[in-house]
Amino acid sequence: MIVQEICPVIEVRKAGEGTHVLAFSSPAIAHTVKAGQFLNVRVDGTTDPLLRRPFSVYRTEGDLVELIFNVIGKGTSLLAGKRKGDTVDVLGPLGTPFNLTAGDFTTAILVGGGLGVAPLPIATATLRPLHVQVATFLGARSSGQVVDAYLDTLSVATDDGTRGFHGNVVELLKTALARKPYPNPKIFACGPTAMLKALGALAVQSGIPCEVSLEGPMACGIGICQGCPVELTGGEKKFALMCKDGPVFDVRTIRL
Ligand SMILES: Cc1cc2nc3c(=O)[nH]c(=O)nc-3n(C[C@H](O)[C@H](O)[C@H](O)COP(=O)(O)OP(=O)(O)OC[C@H]3O[C@@H](n4cnc5c(N)ncnc54)[C@H](O)[C@@H]3O)c2cc1C
Ligand code: FES
Repeated sequence: MIVQEICPVIEVRKAGEGTHVLAFSSPAIAHTVKAGQFLNVRVDGTTDPLLRRPFSVYRTEGDLVELIFNVIGKGTSLLAGKRKGDTVDVLGPLGTPFNLTAGDFTTAILVGGGLGVAPLPIATATLRPLHVQVATFLGARSSGQVVDAYLDTLSVATDDGTRGFHGNVVELLKTALARKPYPNPKIFACGPTAMLKALGALAVQSGIPCEVSLEGPMACGIGICQGCPVELTGGEKKFALMCKDGPVFDVRTIRL
């Protein structure tokens, strides 16, 4: 069930260079949200910024919900300035989750590029009781931008080689797949479009099912404004809506 709530902020903490984690209390969201879903957040009581801002859920713990973000513009700058006792107006959970419980894989390969790490800790927590093998691959520009908490079996790639593999995360995964084939794998990923495109090509080439969570521009977040089209590769419809039909899609069904 989607709720709109004014939620008390518990803390805003740093989680890497320029990266913030916002924790707020919302029992209704914390106990129902699934990995890959997002919340649409009104950052302030004023009309500036007018639109809500979408964020993947990073983590839940008891009644607590956490979001992770970099300061990009006005909305995220206001969120970074929140303190304990402030509030955020949150709408969610929204969108489709990753299909993590289908039982159609025995190795979950989690891939995050930059702050595309956002849905991976909640995905990891969902996978733990399922007793499947998990392999996590993170890519970042530099070591300071790697956000590696709450993840299992982690391999890291950095563009500048300051941590782990020197190169991008898709190259790292390709190397890992060549070295050690994972039993019955499925990829779950989030990150920049260019990364998801390269990852999709690798998944198709390797015959591995792959779900990606998109983070493109959005407005209403609930399927009304038609402002978040995603081109489909086949079927009757030419476009899907990122906010309502996604943000999680089978990579084979969309044109990135
Ligand atoms: C489903 C979904 C989940 C998301 N999850 C996260 C998350 O977990 N953490 C996180 O940091 N961000 C996430 N984002 C992106 C986040 O919503 C934007 O960074 C945020 O809205 C920026 O708001 P702002 O007011 O600070 O910046 P604005 O002032 O709105 O924008 C500043 C600049 O960034 C550009 N921009 C804004 N949003 C996007 C976008 N989505 N893609 C590309 N460029 C953009 C604008 O065009 C502008 O140039 C997600 C987006 C979606 C759709
Ligand atoms: S953001 Fe309005 S329809 Fe998707």
